[in-house]
Amino acid sequence: MTQTSDQDRVLIFDTTLRDGEQSPGATMTHDEKLEIAGMLDEMGVDIIEAGFPIASDGDFEAVSEIARRAQTSVICGLARANFKDIDRCWEAVRHAKRPRIHTFIGTSPLHRAIPNLTMDEMADRIHDTVTHARNLCDNVQWSPMDATRTEYDYLCRVIEIAIKAGAMTINIPDTVGYTAPRESADLIARLIADVPGADEVTFATHCHNDLGMATANALAAVDAGARQIECTINGLGERAGNTALEEVVMALRVRNDIMPFQTGIDTTKIINISRRVASVSGFPVQFNKAIVGKNAFAHESGIHQDGMLKNAETFEIMRPSDIGLSDTNLVMGKHSGRAALRAKLKDLGHDLADNQLNDVFVRFKALADRKKEVYDEDLIALMQDSADTAPDHIQVKFLRVICGTEAPQSADLTLTIDGLDHQVTAQGDGPVDATFNAVKALFPHEARLQLYQVHAVTEGTDAQATVTVRMEEDGKIVTGQSADTDTVVASAKAYVGALNRLIVRRTKAGKDGKEISYKDVS
Ligand code: KIV
Ligand code: ZN
Repeated sequence: MTQTSDQDRVLIFDTTLRDGEQSPGATMTHDEKLEIAGMLDEMGVDIIEAGFPIASDGDFEAVSEIARRAQTSVICGLARANFKDIDRCWEAVRHAKRPRIHTFIGTSPLHRAIPNLTMDEMADRIHDTVTHARNLCDNVQWSPMDATRTEYDYLCRVIEIAIKAGAMTINIPDTVGYTAPRESADLIARLIADVPGADEVTFATHCHNDLGMATANALAAVDAGARQIECTINGLGERAGNTALEEVVMALRVRNDIMPFQTGIDTTKIINISRRVASVSGFPVQFNKAIVGKNAFAHESGIHQDGMLKNAETFEIMRPSDIGLSDTNLVMGKHSGRAALRAKLKDLGHDLADNQLNDVFVRFKALADRKKEVYDEDLIALMQDSADTAPDHIQVKFLRVICGTEAPQSADLTLTIDGLDHQVTAQGDGPVDATFNAVKALFPHEARLQLYQVHAVTEGTDAQATVTVRMEEDGKIVTGQSADTDTVVASAKAYVGALNRLIVRRTKAGKDGKEISYKDVS
């Protein structure tokens, strides 16, 4: 699709690594953040919000490194409305070819009450902080948090101040997912008409999905004149998440007849980044999720299949290949060689170096020995398992479970913890409970199990199970994920994976041991 004019171009601002990663449980390791940022850059995302540098040393390092590595995307960091945040943000993003500072303050009555500022005091704060950011960086974005619940006159007043102080992008967040499409469009149209200087800047839309309207609200805002959409892969984000990148991008592409706007996104990269974000964040994509759900292109009922065979357009408004799905699912097995595996993995978005391939090949052979047919989904699960980059302080070395109709069940487990083997036998109410009790006996902790979820990767009794475990300690949430044909082994590995992330999380906090959220108002 060719770009017709600048007027029609909508910028895609991805905040998976900031708004997405700050959602409870979606913690990513440093290496995972670099990998996702690389994928976003490669797929044509215009602006990557790489993190919130003041939040922790880990965030700062990640944003700095992403800034150094980015090829074409603008690299943006978030900062609250104070000089310390802004300076720290600039320190991190300044390494980028194209840096941006994004500073914000909550402007609605409820948010103004938190720092206890009067309207005038807040207006002065906005002037001073945007001016300060602009003195450091040419490219400044400003957001009035909770804009959709801010008094309209005050919103106009503070936006004008931010524009005069040098902000080039004005983002209008629907922080609590409260607005609706018509209102979203009206607000943008009115602001563009009423605020002096509005025609000199880009208006952005940042929607949360609490009422399931984030995509519709973002598109309505674009229709009314916004030219930047803030979004995340898979709609990742706090509570019900943010606008999903894949949804707005594909909607603009498929319904270009009524929404004549272009993005710079290579849509064929969508499925791989969606899978990778699901894996590293530990937030699986729901089966019926628009665009990237497992069933998004599945046609099972007889009448659908018949229609599809005659003409794919009967039930499909886009082709699987548009988002990078291959039309064929060639089955691999124990006789498949290294070259076939390499080609298949390349198709699935994993271009492996020789040493990586050797490692994966060994695991593939082990899987093929246990499972007659290895499908794309099996290989994806296998890659996700081998790609967990949280350092392995703890590893599962041996597990044998005795279970049957008579309770209790027991688990004989050996864990390698920081290089040393530890063994225990524990009992529990079922094999998974016994295994988790054994892990806890060997690595005592206070973290609370919040979620235990099992998904069969494919059909059949020899299917691999993907297990997701979510745990909470001192308000911090971590997840672990693993796949195996043995559900109990996958459970043990997922549990241990979550504990490894917990250890990372404990060391991730800033120098004072405190990790700041963007909602902490200074
Ligand atoms: O939702 C929100 O208001 C935000 C701001 C920090 C832009 O994420
Ligand atoms: Zn947000």
